[in-house]
Amino acid sequence: MGENHYRISKVRVKVPASTANLGPGFDTLGMALDLYAWIEMGIADETRITLYGDQMNGVPTDKSNLIYEVAQMVFKRAGVSVPELDIAMYSDIPLTRGLGSSASAIVGGLAAANALIGSPLSDDTLFQMATELEHHPDNVGASLFGGLVVAFWDGTRAEHIRVEPDPQLEVLVAIPHFQLSTEKARGVLPRQQSLENAVFNVGHSSLLVAAFCTGRLDMIPRAMKDALHQPYRAPLVPGLGRILAEATEHGALGVALSGAGPTMLALVDRASSRKAELESFMIGTLRKEGIEATMMWLNPDRQGVQVEAWAAGEEPQSELMEIIKGDVRA
Ligand code: HSE
Repeated sequence: MGENHYRISKVRVKVPASTANLGPGFDTLGMALDLYAWIEMGIADETRITLYGDQMNGVPTDKSNLIYEVAQMVFKRAGVSVPELDIAMYSDIPLTRGLGSSASAIVGGLAAANALIGSPLSDDTLFQMATELEHHPDNVGASLFGGLVVAFWDGTRAEHIRVEPDPQLEVLVAIPHFQLSTEKARGVLPRQQSLENAVFNVGHSSLLVAAFCTGRLDMIPRAMKDALHQPYRAPLVPGLGRILAEATEHGALGVALSGAGPTMLALVDRASSRKAELESFMIGTLRKEGIEATMMWLNPDRQGVQVEAWAAGEEPQSELMEIIKGDVRA
């Protein structure tokens, strides 16, 4: 394995959160959201991993850290050796809530490591690597490319097309104050489904994509319905059943479980006069079930992962938190 002789010595990436499925597009549709994680990565004499913020509690700071591990995968693939890294990370993306925190860490780690060695790997290669790690392409595709991503993975290759989100789309998320692992939320899904359910989802997901591509926001309430996963996951998220059934009567264009949950997401017309009504319907429904939730108004992110890189001797000297403080939510 060759030594790393690239001139770049430090990089910083800003990587968006994402919502997967959007209802019917199970493991297929993803949308990037303007809630971010930041990762700095530099070449070091000895590995040091610094995590800022409450979201990072319990995340390892040794070489078993996911960012460190995915960085080493990039170096191995590129045939270079960079065993010691200085990594700093801050994230506004809550862990294990269905907003793609693990996908953002994977995409951020891959993009940072690739930039650090002069970007020998293409975006497509990073997408293939990220999908293999996540086992579905929806969240990683959105975090990498931004916007709306329509994708599939056949176990060997992932394919995708990025769609520009309609400028009228705004997103309301209800983030319950409990965690739900993707493993648990996938574990409740039946291994076999009826032809009727399959046809239902193919039709609804296809129509939803067509509605996004043609600006037909009026079709979203009818298209954003699912028979493959949400009915089975609803018992894991008290209040979800009612929110799925009734949110469109309170001003949502469409509503879905965000990824594997427990976060719920409503698409809203930016010009809607019923935003406060929708917010209080969702929070009120969850409270009746004894669930506290943080509500956030978000926008689709259009850029995907953003990378800055510095040559040796030109790196910014300030700490990560100092640099991003105007940009973070907390
Ligand atoms: N499409 C995935 C699921 C996203 O719904 O299980 C979770 O990360």
